[in-house]
Amino acid sequence: MKVRVDAERCQGHTLCFMRAPDVFELSEIDGHSSPLVEEVPEDQENRVVEAVRSCPERAISVF
Ligand code: F3S
Repeated sequence: MKVRVDAERCQGHTLCFMRAPDVFELSEIDGHSSPLVEEVPEDQENRVVEAVRSCPERAISVF
């Protein structure tokens, strides 16, 4: 599973980071999220799916 965050959609709600802190990091500058990894480790996949569902901006995609 690969993960991306659409930087234009992200509004810094932080829910992705709360769901999967090993996969997402928040910018200290604007609070926006970006993935720490391109390929999600298998043991983090459920957390990332939760992050996708929780983002109110629909900024996270997996494929
Ligand atoms: Fe951004 Fe959505 Fe996370 S708005 S900080 S990708 S919960």
